[in-house]
Amino acid sequence: MEFSLTEEHLMIRDAARDFAQTELFPGVIERDEKQEFPKELVRKMGDLGFMGIMVDPKYGGSGMDTISYVLIMEELSKIDASASVIVSVNNSLVCYGLEKYGTEAQKEKYLTKLATGEFVGAFCLSEPEAGSDATSQKTTAIDMGDHYIVNGTKNWITNGGRSDVYLVIAQTDREKGHRGINAFIVEKGMPGFDIGPKENKLGIRGSDTHTLQFNDVKVPKENRIGEDGFGFKFAMKTLSGGRIGIAAQALGIASGAYELALKYSKERKAFGTEICNHQAIAFKLADMVTEIEAARMLVMKAAWDKDQDNNYDFSSAMAKLYASKVAMEQTVEAVQIHGGNGFVKEYHVERLMRDAKITQIYEGTSEIQKIVISRTVLKD
Ligand code: CAA
Repeated sequence: MEFSLTEEHLMIRDAARDFAQTELFPGVIERDEKQEFPKELVRKMGDLGFMGIMVDPKYGGSGMDTISYVLIMEELSKIDASASVIVSVNNSLVCYGLEKYGTEAQKEKYLTKLATGEFVGAFCLSEPEAGSDATSQKTTAIDMGDHYIVNGTKNWITNGGRSDVYLVIAQTDREKGHRGINAFIVEKGMPGFDIGPKENKLGIRGSDTHTLQFNDVKVPKENRIGEDGFGFKFAMKTLSGGRIGIAAQALGIASGAYELALKYSKERKAFGTEICNHQAIAFKLADMVTEIEAARMLVMKAAWDKDQDNNYDFSSAMAKLYASKVAMEQTVEAVQIHGGNGFVKEYHVERLMRDAKITQIYEGTSEIQKIVISRTVLKD
């Protein structure tokens, strides 16, 4: 068993930390307030290789491992979880899905641009009546021979108004249940594909979340991913990796809040001493750092499983379940340690607390992670 990071991992982590502090930190409060998508910063993250972290360099990616992905996600999320979810969706739901299951032509046409940040990608599974119950897709894709006609609505789509490439899950044969679902590549601007209203959100307000409408969208057959009927398994396999990214995001939100609370507790005085000298605060810090370290172990284990080609459905579900719980609970504690200042935007912890909540919801709610975990342990 090896708990230490390599020299290369440490360099990657430091580069991400430096970028987060020098580029993401200025303006993070304003972007949150105005719900402003960090377009220029996405371009810079592309230049640094953060938009295609695990993609093979022959397709324009950085060729790094999942541990590196987690380290980058943690550092970005400490400062700006809106920026990190753009990275996470592009990397693990879009680039990974295309690289693992796409054709050579699809990789040439789309992956090469997504991995460099020239394109941004979105993953479109959720619908008004199919969020957790992902097999109940109402969006249809009718096989017309050389193309499909897609109709339906997708909800809460991250990068929804800012993407060039959309991976869309749709039902092609209702009789076949989940085996009648397919995944398609839909391009921005295809006739009949409209971007609906932007959501006004509690957290990750700098990320761009939309409803999407598909009205008789003609999608060429070569844009289907995998064999006919592979769409549901494509979504499940892709989401397993996505959950490692969101777990790392939750870890970053929690550790960012902890670092702020630790610093504040050494500066703020009450009853004649710095508040960290009061056991009420010192014990909170002890609990926070312990919980965060436990979450880190689960997140790293899931990343390691993926890098070893082990099955990671179970470990990614546990990592996301636990890290998102830690993010929610420890950001509340960070606000509490800050007292009145915790309720004020300039101290950042209130934003981290709002951002934490989504990690318990997207890419499978905590309840869905418990379904995955419990089914695994009950299987044998
Ligand atoms: N890998 C491969 N195959 C899998 C799989 C996996 N991880 N999980 C399930 N499958 C297969 C099953 O083996 C089964 O296939 P067979 O019948 O051939 O054996 C098939 O898929 C159906 O599986 P289930 O019977 O388990 O399906 P279910 O209806 O009970 O649902 C579920 C299972 C785990 C609850 C699933 O629906 C699920 O994960 N739901 C949550 C969806 C989700 O995460 N939504 C988030 C939206 S995306 C998002 O948030 C993106 C964003 O923008 C940030």
